[in-house]
Amino acid sequence: MKLKGVVLAGGLGSRLLPLTKVTNKHLLPVHDQPMIYYPIRSLVNAGIREILLVTGGNNAGDFLRLLGNGREFGLERLHYAYQEGEGGIAEALALAGPFADHSAVCVILGDNLIQGNIVEAARDFDADPTGALLMLKEVDKPERFGVARFEGDRLVDIIEKPKDPPSAHAVIGIYFYDHEVFEIIPQLEASERGELEITDVNNHYLRAGKLRWRQLEGWWTDAGTFTSLSRANRLVAEGGANRTDL
Ligand code: G1P
Repeated sequence: MKLKGVVLAGGLGSRLLPLTKVTNKHLLPVHDQPMIYYPIRSLVNAGIREILLVTGGNNAGDFLRLLGNGREFGLERLHYAYQEGEGGIAEALALAGPFADHSAVCVILGDNLIQGNIVEAARDFDADPTGALLMLKEVDKPERFGVARFEGDRLVDIIEKPKDPPSAHAVIGIYFYDHEVFEIIPQLEASERGELEITDVNNHYLRAGKLRWRQLEGWWTDAGTFTSLSRANRLVAEGGANRTDL
């Protein structure tokens, strides 16, 4: 598989203070493993072998001690990049440009966990690595996420944390992009929260008619708030995550 993987694990995790006062959010436990194991496993299970971890903020060095060369995941080695400051998901992704080196990428947020796998989506995108491919999942509280707006079956807009969600379909934190993403990001302007938003990247592809989407099978959760972190713990404890049989 030519597709490369990028795990974004920066940020201050301020929604989880004081748990994140002395460590990075992605090093916190989810059931019996550090949170960061789950998104790495999601990429490995999809057949991706070249993986870059972008981190920053608190205790970035601990990732090296924990993950080393990624042997535990069957990798030959892991690549690392360091994000200075808190510029958002798209800014963190921009650091992956030289690593991607004209390949397409599968990007996963370090606090996103899935019950099943993304192997079909990864194979599809690897076979036709053009534009962008998003994964959608119906959720109870879409206002917490990027949300898809449809006209009939057609996806027409993505709205970041809408007060009045136009659908229950959240855009989950697993994205496939062609190499153009690294030309799009420098054109973005910071949002009200002072970040380069991944939703703006996705809308850029959408307006250009280059955005595809799929529904994710099985449960999905983030783990960046107390409510979602405890939900992640419960879901993993009850049925396991990263199952390859789903
Ligand atoms: C981010 C994205 C949002 C996406 C979510 C998935 O939100 O901005 O579009 O739905 O991740 O976890 P954040 O966690 O930065 O608030």
